[in-house]
Amino acid sequence: MELSIHRDYQGICRWTADYLIERIKAFGPTRERPFVLGLPTGSTPLGVYRALVSAYNEGKISFAHVLTFNMDEYLGLPGDHPQSYRYFMEESLFRHVDISPGNTHVPNGMAVEPLKECAAYEEAIKNAGGMELILGGVGANGHIAFNEPGSSFGSRTRVEVLANETIMSNAKFFDGELSEVPTRAITMGIGTVMEAREIIILASGQQKARAIQEAVEGPLNHHCPLSVLQMHQNATIVCDEEAAQELRYRTVLQNKTWD
Ligand code: GLP
Repeated sequence: MELSIHRDYQGICRWTADYLIERIKAFGPTRERPFVLGLPTGSTPLGVYRALVSAYNEGKISFAHVLTFNMDEYLGLPGDHPQSYRYFMEESLFRHVDISPGNTHVPNGMAVEPLKECAAYEEAIKNAGGMELILGGVGANGHIAFNEPGSSFGSRTRVEVLANETIMSNAKFFDGELSEVPTRAITMGIGTVMEAREIIILASGQQKARAIQEAVEGPLNHHCPLSVLQMHQNATIVCDEEAAQELRYRTVLQNKTWD
């Protein structure tokens, strides 16, 4: 696992957007061989999406041959609900770039048979040839996608019951109304995420510092789902100084990349 530590949130976003653009261009995606990209929601990736949209407007990147799979979706929210992750993605990225709607995948939160939806989602990722790169965030409790503490490292796309901590933290998107936050979600499993050929996780702010310390310096431990990254061959945590502030080992100092 690599760490890329930046001065602040802007640094994280700039670095990540530039990296993604270079990575996609170097891959040289075509209709027959698209770039398969896993994507997150939450407040942290917003700056990266803004930077990608700007780069697209400046002609620096095309998404014409990019296929996306979002990590998760609230169960019970339709895609046109302003707090659904489908809606978030349309507003933050998809409708601003040249990605074809059929190439974007977000689990269907209104699926009549959620378990079938989970299996179909796994199948779709497999049929696309697996994810070349997955971009993710992390919850304050160390969750990745909606894999809450205690999730099996081998888990696949499934229905997860959200931890109280997650409901409280995500209530900010629902006018602070805890009762408005769905209690369940469809999420890629940790095993699904780990099969991506590359993983990049974004973390900003001191509320993520404990999760970053546990994941990087603690033992491999399913109480901190992010620690699973220790087992991946090509994973990077991109964070700012605040999110890195609990790290203890001096090696951290060598990983700072001031922009
Ligand atoms: C939600 C998402 C996660 C995301 C997390 C962090 O719970 N399901 O995928 O990583 O929020 O969100 P934020 O970036 O707003 O801190």
